[in-house]
Amino acid sequence: MSDKVYRASTTAPVNIAVVKYWGKRDAKLNLPTNSSLSVTLSQADLRTLTTASCSASFPASEGDSLLLNGEPSDISGARTQACLRELRSRRAALEAADPSLPKLSTYPLRLVSENNFPTAAGLASSAAGFAALVRAIANLYELPASPSELSLIARQGSGSACRSLFGGYVAWRMGDKADGTDSMADQVAEASHWPDMRALVLVVSAAKKGVSSSSGMQQTVATSGLFRERIATVVPENMAIMEKAIAEKDFEKFAEVTMRDSNSFHATCADTYPPIFYMNDVSRAAIRAVEAINEKAGRTVAAYTFDAGPNAVIYYQEKDTEAVVGTFYHVLQGADIGGWKSADIKGLKPTIS
Ligand code: PMV
Repeated sequence: MSDKVYRASTTAPVNIAVVKYWGKRDAKLNLPTNSSLSVTLSQADLRTLTTASCSASFPASEGDSLLLNGEPSDISGARTQACLRELRSRRAALEAADPSLPKLSTYPLRLVSENNFPTAAGLASSAAGFAALVRAIANLYELPASPSELSLIARQGSGSACRSLFGGYVAWRMGDKADGTDSMADQVAEASHWPDMRALVLVVSAAKKGVSSSSGMQQTVATSGLFRERIATVVPENMAIMEKAIAEKDFEKFAEVTMRDSNSFHATCADTYPPIFYMNDVSRAAIRAVEAINEKAGRTVAAYTFDAGPNAVIYYQEKDTEAVVGTFYHVLQGADIGGWKSADIKGLKPTIS
């Protein structure tokens, strides 16, 4: 038996949606009730680094394992297992076609992942996590898979993960097939298309979120009337306006849709029974601060958005850094809110520490 260890490493960035995915039409396959669109943030600040290794010498009794931020992590969940199964079966097909290939698909996998930001705090850690996991194993197995094909697999781990396989501006098209083979991500524009775009991440709380996105979605789909309106008309309109705004680099439109869509998503959460609140008082203060910044500037220079947690992401353009970052810094300096973290989509970090 060979004791050769095969290994591959990759990183995947976080993405923050400007038109939110919220609701599953098939929970097993992670098929969404609506399309969504996100901006992939810079790897410099928010990313997962994953190394996948396998060897015939790894004891079969150990099975597959994952070390996440240095701690053993449970990978027996259906979503992770679906990703591993898909990747193994693609590798097995290659091995069947070329018997000279080592039978990596039969070896136990050891996965080691590290996030450089708080896990499960509404900072899309599962998106970067599953995107990195899928790509690391695909590289290890030398699968000839395009980012779109990998997005189909990552989607089964965490819906939003499918968007982290691309940089820049990324749409996840919901698709309409029952087997999910058309529910995948595609790139709407490269990051370089809009080099001025920046995102500021305000870490309001690094604690784990109260209601997981899966159970929040389930409750919303089951009990919110507002949600039906959101998926029927609000999101399709927002997707169309957003794609046009990105193509035309129209920040005012981009910002308006971003804020409206975040508000709409959180309104459906408040409309569930019992209601779900992801934002807190500091989140609402951030909304007011953005409104004050825009009012003072006399035009829309900043846009807020919130995922399933209290942390704010503020989109702005570099030329407005002073008005946006400067004001936030001065307003919140000294406030006991757990600290700032910043990221942009190009690798330049606004300096606020
Ligand atoms: O990928 P999940 O299951 O963690 O869901 C993410 C949902 C939101 O972050 C709230 C919205 C989105 O589109 O990313």
